[in-house]
Amino acid sequence: MRMIREPDELRRLCDEHRRAGRRIGFVPTMGYLHEGHLSLMRRAREAAEVVVVSIFVNPTQFGPSEDLSRYPRDLEGDLAKCASIPVDLVYAPEPASVYPPGFQTVVEVEGLSRGLCGERRPGHFRGVATVVTKLLCLVGPCTAVFGEKDFQQLLVIRQLARDLELPVTVVGAPIVREPDGLALSSRNAYLSPAERASAPCLHRALEEVARAAAAAGRLPASAALAAVERELAGQGVATRIDYVEARDARTLAPRAELLPDGQTLVALAVFFGKTRLIDNLVF
Ligand code: PAJ
Repeated sequence: MRMIREPDELRRLCDEHRRAGRRIGFVPTMGYLHEGHLSLMRRAREAAEVVVVSIFVNPTQFGPSEDLSRYPRDLEGDLAKCASIPVDLVYAPEPASVYPPGFQTVVEVEGLSRGLCGERRPGHFRGVATVVTKLLCLVGPCTAVFGEKDFQQLLVIRQLARDLELPVTVVGAPIVREPDGLALSSRNAYLSPAERASAPCLHRALEEVARAAAAAGRLPASAALAAVERELAGQGVATRIDYVEARDARTLAPRAELLPDGQTLVALAVFFGKTRLIDNLVF
């Protein structure tokens, strides 16, 4: 496994692999890797002979009051996890080589970035779309794997790949959860023991809603918010709902009703103390 710091070197090595007839699977991350990330790497291995992982805490996708400076980092541990897959190339650039002085281009996916996390985190998806476009341009033709955990992000990236005609196959991979249902996330490290103990209620609420919609055939979208409120009440930790919304899983168009049609997305973001957790379920 080789670690690379400079963009030119990443491009050169990827070009060499392709010239030798090897396909490239690519997994962009912000590090502090967990089983969710590793599942994407295994998926990339299925699709390609060479697996490339990027580890970069991208400053442009964090808002001014967000957790950029305290975002968890552990490059050494991350490299050991990558080696266990095994990964071939790890690209871990410094911010200054991703955004050198004078940098002034952004990528904005206009429609899909509105609403949900885009509305609550202004500029977030512009930062994500810009850095992912840069990474995809460096890596070149590849299969890139993204988690459904960040469902809106996955759709934003599919869209930008299509709109900019990037030579990439975007693959979505299922959410990896703890045995108690909590979706794995680097941010789970921020949770106090009491918050960690109550956080699985998010997934429980999503499952309850899906079950109720299947039993009733259709439910008003407000049932999703009600289920999350019900689960959060009585948890005994400080929580605040950022949003709970029903959307079409293909277009993110708002849904007035929850239908068990395989295309209903219920997505949520909830603060446990200062930690903002997101989760979703498609049913
Ligand atoms: P990060 O939060 O590190 O996530 C990297 C990838 O891992 C994303 O595709 C995310 O959806 C996926 N992932 C995270 N938790 C997961 C889980 N529990 N199950 C399955 N997949 C999971 O998302 C980002 O970084 C950044 O926005 C990035 C795309 C790297 C751009 O900076």
